[in-house]
Amino acid sequence: MVRTLAAEHLNSDHPIAGRGAMTDAMSDASAKKSVTRRAALAGLAGAALTAPQLGAIQSAAAQSRSDFELELLPSLRSRTQASGIRYGCAGGPPIGDYDPIVLEKLSAEANLFVPEAHLKWFTTEPRPGEFDFAAADSIADYAARHDMIMHGHTLVWYAANPDWVMHLDSAKDARAALERHIGTLVSRYRGKIWAWDVVNEAIEPKEGLENGYRGSVWYRLLGGEHIELACKLARAADPKVPLGINDFGIEYTAADSRRRRQDLLALLRRLRDRNVPVDYLGLQSHLECHKTLDRKELTEFLRSVTDLGYKLLVTELDVNDVQIRGDDAARDAAVERHTGDYLDIVFSVARPLSISTWGLTDRYTWMRQYFKRADGTALRPLPLDVNFNRKRMWAALARHLSA
Ligand code: XIL
Repeated sequence: MVRTLAAEHLNSDHPIAGRGAMTDAMSDASAKKSVTRRAALAGLAGAALTAPQLGAIQSAAAQSRSDFELELLPSLRSRTQASGIRYGCAGGPPIGDYDPIVLEKLSAEANLFVPEAHLKWFTTEPRPGEFDFAAADSIADYAARHDMIMHGHTLVWYAANPDWVMHLDSAKDARAALERHIGTLVSRYRGKIWAWDVVNEAIEPKEGLENGYRGSVWYRLLGGEHIELACKLARAADPKVPLGINDFGIEYTAADSRRRRQDLLALLRRLRDRNVPVDYLGLQSHLECHKTLDRKELTEFLRSVTDLGYKLLVTELDVNDVQIRGDDAARDAAVERHTGDYLDIVFSVARPLSISTWGLTDRYTWMRQYFKRADGTALRPLPLDVNFNRKRMWAALARHLSA
């Protein structure tokens, strides 16, 4: 059941309040804003207000009226009913260890759960032929309980492999490993997976290899053929589930983006020519707010992809604001604009079957490990802030998920 936000914010037992919640990630400013928001929401719920609370409401209304109104709008999930586009979120830890607030928000906002690590090889097959599905199964159960489905991420990648995979040393062994791994995972989750990212990040033009392939363990032992093999194995294990090639770094005017678009399109053409079972291109969409979207060339690229018969999925959207100057409001506005501009381009070519963000709240984002802002504040790349309040980016998603 989805509780109203007013009730949620007023409940002193709510885990946000219960924990004290002042993590290092929260600035004083955002903590103050949270208090004013709570007061404002109290007003909406009709509670008796003190003078300071009233003042706080007025100032919240003046400062961030539109932010505050976002809390009252129907969830992203509810918008997907009319549009048919699923909204997904990646989530990190096993369900049992997960922040309960995130789980609650996640099932309220999303109808697709993307395991951030727990379908990756190092989790599912840590030793040859010894599978561990505890974490993935708990996610599948959570998804089923909340009438969600799970996105399959990912079967074949250069990273997140156990050592034994990285040390495979013959084509025969590599082929056998792929057969066992893909066959086991895809069969096990038949009917529970919405779509499988079969090959993740196969392209890395910087490495200078033929066709822009990335020099993964799979490429080293099997060449570009590993992609075809992986897709065929997945199709044999589940004749129905949509299968995809998932990649990143294709959005901008910079030369490396152009190169990636070219190499990725060429790969998708080769796969079509050879009748390889691939249904979609997963657009990871790890956006970088300070860069310029290549509206013209990205549109042409996406059109070529859909002309080849591929569907589009937005699989890992987040917006890196590491170089955006200004206060939270200015940064959030930039992130909203960038998200909206990007999704406008995608939608101008085709409606994606799903839009997934790589996380839900700025409190938990992989980007923190990799990017630090010069002013020391935390990144704001996701639809909810560190206090689980909807941000302007949420509004950009809401518009597109309703479209
Ligand atoms: C990332 C996870 O979010 C991190 O927690 C982990 O340390 C590394 O992998 N592209 C992908 C994802 O396809 O699997 C990556 O996930 C982010 C980039």
